[in-house]
Amino acid sequence: MGVQEKPASAFEKLTARYDAWYDTAHGQLLFDLELACLRPLLPPGPGPRLEVGVGSGRFAAALGLGVGVDPALAPLRLAAGRAVAVVQGAGERLPFGDRTFGAVVVVATLCFADDPAALLGEARRVLVPSGRLVAGVVPLDSALGRHYEAQGLAGHPFYRGARFLTLAEHRRMLADAGFTISGACSTLTQAPSDDPVGEQVHEVVVPGAGFVALQARPWPSPEGPAPRRRRASQLHVASATDSPAPGLSRRADDEEAS
Ligand SMILES: C[S@@+](CC[C@H](N)C(=O)[O-])C[C@H]1O[C@@H](n2cnc3c(N)ncnc32)[C@H](O)[C@@H]1O
Repeated sequence: MGVQEKPASAFEKLTARYDAWYDTAHGQLLFDLELACLRPLLPPGPGPRLEVGVGSGRFAAALGLGVGVDPALAPLRLAAGRAVAVVQGAGERLPFGDRTFGAVVVVATLCFADDPAALLGEARRVLVPSGRLVAGVVPLDSALGRHYEAQGLAGHPFYRGARFLTLAEHRRMLADAGFTISGACSTLTQAPSDDPVGEQVHEVVVPGAGFVALQARPWPSPEGPAPRRRRASQLHVASATDSPAPGLSRRADDEEAS
């Protein structure tokens, strides 16, 4: 089914509401914390950088990502107004050639994609071999993930369309798509609250953190993109502690929960 044939998503219909949340005190606080998690994981290298599921372009603009793709047209218009070059399309079928981008960023989008595994496979395809994927996720095995899931079950217009996954499921999906985790940051370790005080950014995955940013590099493959769905048993599933991202230090006892 083509992108155009699908019913309009909540992000299409409620764009202004979604985007305005970032201007609330709570939204600004969470945005700043999440941005501080994502920023150090972005590779410094050259090459265009893409956000998949760019929405209204808040993160893309703040992170200097030049290109954004999203199936929803209304948020793309806002992203374009934030100086992001936008393309309408789905992450499962990215409208870009192989090995195009130095970085692909995916924030709060894997849980909304019809096929997050296919989206990651496409992200790997469009990355140059030395590129990096940076994925920001709300794990289901966190107080915030459970809170959002409960809101979805109660009919929340955005979260009812989400399928939240645990951190271990994200790690497995990344490995299946041909990625090795090469860095991580996390934040929102407290119970969800309208006024979180003292939240910090950790250069590791704190178990139970409500926002986790994972940096992943394509698994080396001389003959091109990795097969889409290799069996997990054939793969090296790296810990986020294997090799810190540039600029990140990591304590030896910081082990990612999975
Ligand atoms: C929660 S919003 C996140 C937007 C932006 N990344 C941000 O953090 O503000 C999720 C976005 O994913 C988009 N989306 C849904 N399904 C998608 C898919 N299959 N491929 C790419 N983006 C998708 C939605 O249209 C929406 O803009």
